[in-house]
Amino acid sequence: MAWDSGRLHFGGDYNPDQWPRDVWAEDRRLMHDAGVTLATVGVFSWAHLQPAPDRYEFGWLDEVLDGLAGAGIGVDLATATASPPPWLTTAHPEALPVDREGHRRWPGARQAYCPSSAAWRDGALALVERLGTRYAGHPALRMWHVGNEYGCHTSRCYCDTCAAGFRDWLVRRHGDVDGVNRAWGTAFWSQRYSALDEILPPRLTPDGAWANPTQQLDYRRFASDLLLEEFVAERDVLHRLSPGVPVTTNFMVMTRFNQLDYWAWARELDVVSTDYYPDFADPLTHVEAAFCADMTRGLADGGPWLLMETSPSAVNWQPRNPAKRPGQLRRDALQQVAHGADGFNVFQVRASVAGAEKFHSGLIPHAGTDTRLWREVVELGDLLDRLGEVAGSRVESSVALVWDWQAWWGCELDSHPSVDVAYPDRARAFHRALWDLGVAVDVVAPGASLDGYDLVVVPTLYLVDDSVAPVLDAFVRGGGHVVVTYFSGIVDADDHIRTGGYPGAFRELLGVLVEEFAPLLAGERVMLDDGGSADVWTEDLRLAGAEPVVRYVDGPVPGRPAVTRHALGDGVAWYVATRTDVATTARLVARMVEEAGVRPVAASSPGVEVQRRRAGAASWLFVLNHTDAAATVATTGTDIVSGVPVSGSVTVPAGGVAVVREGGPA
Ligand code: GAL
Repeated sequence: MAWDSGRLHFGGDYNPDQWPRDVWAEDRRLMHDAGVTLATVGVFSWAHLQPAPDRYEFGWLDEVLDGLAGAGIGVDLATATASPPPWLTTAHPEALPVDREGHRRWPGARQAYCPSSAAWRDGALALVERLGTRYAGHPALRMWHVGNEYGCHTSRCYCDTCAAGFRDWLVRRHGDVDGVNRAWGTAFWSQRYSALDEILPPRLTPDGAWANPTQQLDYRRFASDLLLEEFVAERDVLHRLSPGVPVTTNFMVMTRFNQLDYWAWARELDVVSTDYYPDFADPLTHVEAAFCADMTRGLADGGPWLLMETSPSAVNWQPRNPAKRPGQLRRDALQQVAHGADGFNVFQVRASVAGAEKFHSGLIPHAGTDTRLWREVVELGDLLDRLGEVAGSRVESSVALVWDWQAWWGCELDSHPSVDVAYPDRARAFHRALWDLGVAVDVVAPGASLDGYDLVVVPTLYLVDDSVAPVLDAFVRGGGHVVVTYFSGIVDADDHIRTGGYPGAFRELLGVLVEEFAPLLAGERVMLDDGGSADVWTEDLRLAGAEPVVRYVDGPVPGRPAVTRHALGDGVAWYVATRTDVATTARLVARMVEEAGVRPVAASSPGVEVQRRRAGAASWLFVLNHTDAAATVATTGTDIVSGVPVSGSVTVPAGGVAVVREGGPA
């Protein structure tokens, strides 16, 4: 593989086309000083590489790549197709996307294209053909980077060309117009189609009249598949022209982005990579970061993966954009590595001086190199170099959390029992409780093999096909422990209710039957008989084999079970039918962990993150102290961060990090 896998990569998006040539030599020198090993070049360079339909200019890119190769810096070379140049959309206005109200979106920002447009697609593939031909053998080339953050800005186009593509997609999924009528339940509201060409994307409907939910869901599936086709088309050109060079695209694995079905996408990537940006207004964003890293590791399915972008310090696109505090960049980087990343890259190498991102931080700040940020960057590059021995090692876990983008789409469709049910909410809450206990978590797709796990968390899995419940059932009967949270198992893959009592698909597994949902009003809170409380959701639940663990004291269904436990075969299936508060969730999860025999990575306290990576007999314990006080964790070996031997325990200062190569006295 061209990608040098024996080290941890460090680097970022590098946009030399924004700068005069005389800056490039300094860029290379500074990148070298910072220990940069990988530069992502050309993500938004289409207009520079092809200034006119019949004119390509590769000279500048040759120079950049030659310079980087000479400086020993590898290149993740972009296909530059993320944003078409103005000449293309001027000549082909139909290549611009159309929103659900029927308005064309104008160029002038980025990523304004319709993925069905032949002009855009042909232009993109012609550029990729030339790039692949020209640079396949370039000594700097480590990886190809197709597009950029697919689904960002333009996730769905509603134009007539997309409508035609949608109809073809529907035939592939449902067979014919009758199949669509069945799947979409068009007996409702006089929606029955008599011919395929009557079917449209879910464009804006009259006020207060929701578009058919399955139509909306299928359109999201279609849009994800359509973009994936574009990725695959570019990837296939690159595979043909430069066999052996891995191809990636940067995902946006965040609990704030849900435009693509990444389980389907991940299968098509040679190396999975993701962007993760902190939500600076969220005090628990570092826990979300851990969760998303676990998710990305799941997408990589045992293979290597990279953090492709984050900000070295501030971003420019949140309402308020604070700088990272001293030490935060290092903690953010090591957190990704702790969860399995073999590289940490940022957006971008040199902060821009013009354009919409001029207030976004870069490795090289506007203020230059006599700055705290630059010193932290150089220290980080050195540390990642010294941590190279962990590359290729694995994170192990006995807890799995089931996550699904399609269930997210379904869960958050309109016309549901409560607008307060947010798909990522319970996943984050349960992951956080496990994180606080120091328990490592793998994220898996619904229906994935559960071999080797002791505890499986199934949060808000609203939509499930028929294959999922039997896998969980067999897992529990065989001795596994499962916890399912409310609004799970409710509909099938076509968003049709599973009748006979909620939670449809999981009723027998959980040994309960829910007659009616009883969601709470805004701000309403119910008391639980274990002293805790809950909000958002309750339900009128009957026991059908399970035992009650916690009951409601008040609210719409006083006395009814809120948490149940079902002994089934050799295992246990828990059901949490309400949105328990943080302390109650923590208590429940601690009990589930204990009963399932799950062990933490190391004994730690909340806010002190512990993760272990292993390779054969070797292991590394990562300790990331996110708190304001020093923390001590038991371990013996050598702390690679400080270079100091550790005997019995390591003490990590507030905000600090340690990576202990474990084993005998050092
Ligand atoms: C990412 C994007 C980059 C840059 C960055 C700024 O979403 O891929 O090109 O815009 O955000 O934070």
